[in-house]
Amino acid sequence: MLEVRDVRLEQAGRSDWADAASDEWANAQSLWDHLTGASNLVEAAQAFDFAALLPPEAAVLDLGCGSGWLAAMLSAEPKVGHVIAWDGSPHLLEHVLPETVALVGGDLERIERVCGDFVPLTLPDASLDLVAMSSAFHHAPDPRRLLGELRRVLRPGGAVVLLNETPWKRLMVLGFATRMYLAALLGLVRGTPIARPGQLAADHVLYDDRLGDRGYTAGALRALAAEAGFTLEIQDTRLPSFKPSYRDRMRLEPNLVHIVLHPR
Ligand SMILES: C[S@@+](CC[C@H](N)C(=O)[O-])C[C@H]1O[C@@H](n2cnc3c(N)ncnc32)[C@H](O)[C@@H]1O
Repeated sequence: MLEVRDVRLEQAGRSDWADAASDEWANAQSLWDHLTGASNLVEAAQAFDFAALLPPEAAVLDLGCGSGWLAAMLSAEPKVGHVIAWDGSPHLLEHVLPETVALVGGDLERIERVCGDFVPLTLPDASLDLVAMSSAFHHAPDPRRLLGELRRVLRPGGAVVLLNETPWKRLMVLGFATRMYLAALLGLVRGTPIARPGQLAADHVLYDDRLGDRGYTAGALRALAAEAGFTLEIQDTRLPSFKPSYRDRMRLEPNLVHIVLHPR
């Protein structure tokens, strides 16, 4: 009898974020130029007071670290002892992160790179003082499971900060829902389904099904956090996602916010 051919790893290896996302993600310099020249993500994170949340020699996780610019910033923070930079993209971790750390002025010796999915976090219970995710939480396919894992790995007194999120206004969800239902109804009437990107669920919208971007209202985020045993505080950065020189703010487009979660 022939062996079962297991191609799961091969299949997973083919889907690298850096290939799926825009060209800037190919190398450290182009991505850093994009992040600092076109977007406000780095500026918004620089204004966040990480030190206030950190004990001395803190153990920190940058989950969905991408190029690793935030892991680099955290590795240069005096109160941080160890940073885990965790992402699903081998390309970003192997090739882009080391160069980004050099560009940002971080300490590569204090950064441990882990290539893996958001869940399960293969880390011991109560082992981290801070988990930071920049523009990454809304990519979690199962936010409840992720929040459960974040709660498990936090030490007493620890915190999670979901940086650079853009909670959807209720009117945006209404507009999305209207377009989805109209397309579905029209498809029914015509007898041929109409393909619309995205999906609508009771508690979120999947607005980019290629990269897995999900939109949550602030209310939905509050409910998710409470269910997982966290209190939630939203800090408005007053910055849009992109600089006006790159693109104008869209109608109803929210500011970037930082969401701080503390175990209850
Ligand atoms: C929008 S990027 C943000 C990257 C970085 N934190 C930043 O602010 O520039 C989202 C990152 O999450 C990673 N990612 C998305 N879904 C993931 C998953 N299920 N498990 C692990 N990493 C994931 C991607 O590889 C990508 O690097």
